[in-house]
Amino acid sequence: MTIIAPSVLSLDFTKLEEQMNALKASKAEYLHFDVMDGHFVPNLTFGPDILKAMDKMTDQVMDVHLMITDPVKYADVFVKAGADIITFHQEAVSDEDGLKLCDHLHKKGVKVGVTLKPKTPVEALLPYLDKVDMVLVMSVEPGFGGQSFMAGMLDKVRFLKACREANDLQYLIEIDGGIDANTAVLAKEAGCDILVAGSYVFKHPKGIVEAVESLL
Ligand code: DX5
Ligand code: ZN
Repeated sequence: MTIIAPSVLSLDFTKLEEQMNALKASKAEYLHFDVMDGHFVPNLTFGPDILKAMDKMTDQVMDVHLMITDPVKYADVFVKAGADIITFHQEAVSDEDGLKLCDHLHKKGVKVGVTLKPKTPVEALLPYLDKVDMVLVMSVEPGFGGQSFMAGMLDKVRFLKACREANDLQYLIEIDGGIDANTAVLAKEAGCDILVAGSYVFKHPKGIVEAVESLL
């Protein structure tokens, strides 16, 4: 069963309550929360206070994607603010620190994901695969919504799926960037369990509920 994770990066904050109600009424099980620090990626978004407020408005799983230079320093404030899953970038940490962060977050009772930029080879994630609950494959360059899907990233998904089977591992595979009704089919065929979708969900002419439904 596919999980849909609307990215609140594309939410219209002038209609926060209305759109949060629509998300709650939809079949989206997760909400994807993109944290950008203007340094790891060339864009700025939200911090823990916004997460805390949104977490109070829904029971959906808060799926926090940290696109920041120092996830070791800042992960805890997002746990405190209500994150259920924290995903950090492999490029931002040494393997040693990243593995320690996995243990630390598990001790705090949250799930852990690891992710990588499109140019980073998927093998860079090998040290993490028996430690994480989720692997996030970026199918656009992190930083902005509304970019085109990079179909070549589906090879990473196939690799991760094969690796999971061969080694009897448990992580879920999530994909993020350029997901719409067409690319969702490709992502599911390749083996994705969780689809993040921002602009498609929030700019859909038939509204949020139908947009989510069309990705399932
Ligand atoms: C990009 C973010 C994505 C973004 C996806 O850096 O990680 O989560 O919101 O947006 P769409 O679905 O519009 O490509
Ligand atoms: Zn994201």
